[in-house]
Amino acid sequence: MKFFLDTADLNEIEEAASWGAIAGVTTNPSLYAKIGGRLDDFQSHIKRICDLIDGPVSAETVGTTRDEIVREGLELATIAPNVVVKVPTMVEGLAATRVLADKGIRVNMTLCFSVPQALLAARAGARYVSPFVGRFDDISEDGIEQLGGIATALSNYDFSSCGVDGESIEVIAASVRSANHVTQAALMGVDIATVPFGVLKKCVEHPLTTNGLARFMADWEKVKNA
Ligand code: E4P
Repeated sequence: MKFFLDTADLNEIEEAASWGAIAGVTTNPSLYAKIGGRLDDFQSHIKRICDLIDGPVSAETVGTTRDEIVREGLELATIAPNVVVKVPTMVEGLAATRVLADKGIRVNMTLCFSVPQALLAARAGARYVSPFVGRFDDISEDGIEQLGGIATALSNYDFSSCGVDGESIEVIAASVRSANHVTQAALMGVDIATVPFGVLKKCVEHPLTTNGLARFMADWEKVKNA
């Protein structure tokens, strides 16, 4: 499974990129608002992220009609070659995805909550589809089970002729809230997990690693003093 970072924070991206294990970044309007982002700086900000990450960077459209989404998507795609246009899974989003994919532009269909939505995203030419895990948990449903259903359904078919350059659609586990979400996604073979920086740090840590390191250090002191 690949790890994407789910943030618009340049410091987090720079730090996580230095760990050498991050394959991409996903952003959304909420994440951009969270860092105090301004409309007139949006495209420059996405460009800065693209310069930091050697991999796909999802930038979300906010239009509600297919024409608006296509216009925004075409503009976003000019920012850098690694921009992926993020489009909500809805009728206008599907139509816009088809147009963008036919122009060779990679799309990440977001806000996906069901198997039929994911299948339609794939048919419309999406390069990625992002089922949201945590938002199901927020309403006391099992987001991991939903993710598993989507991953299995997509794996039943060959979508390589639907998208850009014969690339097959990949599933991005999104709205990830814990290292356990990452574990469960990986156990079911999901292609990618996009994780907030805090969750990524938790994925690196384990109490036995921390204790084991402390023990090695203490023993190494003994070696030095022997
Ligand atoms: C990523 O592509 C999604 O926009 C993000 O993971 C949503 O996360 P949230 O449910 O915590 O807002």
